[in-house]
Amino acid sequence: MPIPALSIIASPDDATAELIVHGVLAGETPSAPGFDAELLTALGITGKREQVTRAVVDGRKIAFVGLGDTVTADRLREVAGAAVRSLRDVPSLAISLPVTTGTEVQAVLEGAALGAYRYEHRRRAEGDRVVCEIAVVAGDAEVSPYIVQSAGIAAQAVWTTRDLSNTPPNLLSPVDFADRVVAETATTGLSVVVRDEERLRREGFGGIVGVGQGSSRPPRLVTVEHTPENATRHVVLVGKGITFDSGGLSLKPAASMQHMKYDMTGAATVYAVTVAAAALQLPIRITAHLCLAENLVSSTSTRPDDVITMRGGKTVEVTNTDAEGRLVMADGLVLASEAQPDAIIDVATLTGAQMVALGNRVSGVMGNDEAFVEAVLRASREVGEQLWPMPIPEEMIGMLDSDVADLMNAKVGNRAGGMLLAAAFLNEFVGERDGSPIPWAHIDIAGPSTNTGSPFGFTPPGSTGVAVRGLLRTLSKMSRSAE
Ligand code: BES
Ligand code: ZN
Ligand code: ZN
Repeated sequence: MPIPALSIIASPDDATAELIVHGVLAGETPSAPGFDAELLTALGITGKREQVTRAVVDGRKIAFVGLGDTVTADRLREVAGAAVRSLRDVPSLAISLPVTTGTEVQAVLEGAALGAYRYEHRRRAEGDRVVCEIAVVAGDAEVSPYIVQSAGIAAQAVWTTRDLSNTPPNLLSPVDFADRVVAETATTGLSVVVRDEERLRREGFGGIVGVGQGSSRPPRLVTVEHTPENATRHVVLVGKGITFDSGGLSLKPAASMQHMKYDMTGAATVYAVTVAAAALQLPIRITAHLCLAENLVSSTSTRPDDVITMRGGKTVEVTNTDAEGRLVMADGLVLASEAQPDAIIDVATLTGAQMVALGNRVSGVMGNDEAFVEAVLRASREVGEQLWPMPIPEEMIGMLDSDVADLMNAKVGNRAGGMLLAAAFLNEFVGERDGSPIPWAHIDIAGPSTNTGSPFGFTPPGSTGVAVRGLLRTLSKMSRSAE
């Protein structure tokens, strides 16, 4: 779905919208410019963070949204999102929050567009009321027209990710996903290559083939590429695209299998980011590999005890077919390394252990190069995404020693440090360039990718689109810092 049309206006008086949203600061007496405290108090408005109250004042429809007691770009993004989320039935909105900088205006634009999202499982009927236009009051803040455009592109990328991830798995097989990418990129100038299962087998992608072979709906590896002429750097993105993860023969219990349609969110993320980078015309070459497979149970499924040969020749003893993400990602990382890029970033809903360690709102980031991991982390935090650096302890890979193959995909019976062990496995498939490892960052978004609870800030229920904006920011900074 397309995001609402975004624009900037100078003052609330310029608003032609059906409803204007005003920010309210909390304090001993709540305050909103142009309204007296008595009115606010009479309406029960306290300025409490994300509290949204609708009212009609002097015959005009308005709403108030609580800012809490501090105003930062991150807070503004969340609050604007919360406001629009609860006003999603109003076709045109104006938003007046206390902004003083272009960055803050951009945060409000972004948050508002993100909060307007809802997954539409049926066609919109005529007369459905949804947000179509959002005008943000910029006041005296200095804004360039580029701000509106880049906020819109980032928000669209998040919407695209959410739409793909929220799609029920019967309606999004690996082939459906690939077809959607081909159709949606037809007019963008991006190049797309789709490898079908025959080609995957021929070219040695044993991980993707092995995971996908239990499903009647075959796997795909989709490569999307943004190749601007002025690029001086090349980054390869790899995304986990398990369109449904039943666990395979190492079947998940029923309660854990629910929500496994979201197991393709990494692939959706790297895809949407690449489309957005092209729309922003970032002067950096970006290749995204989407490792798509469905992990199901049948007489053709990979068995625990099977040994598979991955792209590049390493062999893996499959001890647990539910540790399938690392198998498809390993093939993706080998392919990524073959291009000898400047850096590799992978995104995956890889481990339940990520949630045990960091919860549902903080993603884990690991890698082979501290400075690069730090750069990804910093860029993500700049756009309000929470990432936390986690180690890949050197000794851990020894836990995956196998008697029959180069390594095992999981240590059965071990639950300690599961997120780190998965990263240690992936690390084995990252190649070298000029004799040293290619800088690589791995982002485990298992928990944060999906909101199974109540909505908050700009985050709806279902797919969140986390990591999209952080990755975009990372790539944008890398493109600017290139010599
Ligand atoms: N897709 C899951 C990880 C996951 C779990 C994502 C919950 C989102 C929510 C992954 O394929 C998986 O099942 N991992 C196993 C690995 C284990 C068998 C070594 C896990 O984390 O339990
Ligand atoms: Zn699994
Ligand atoms: Zn999985």
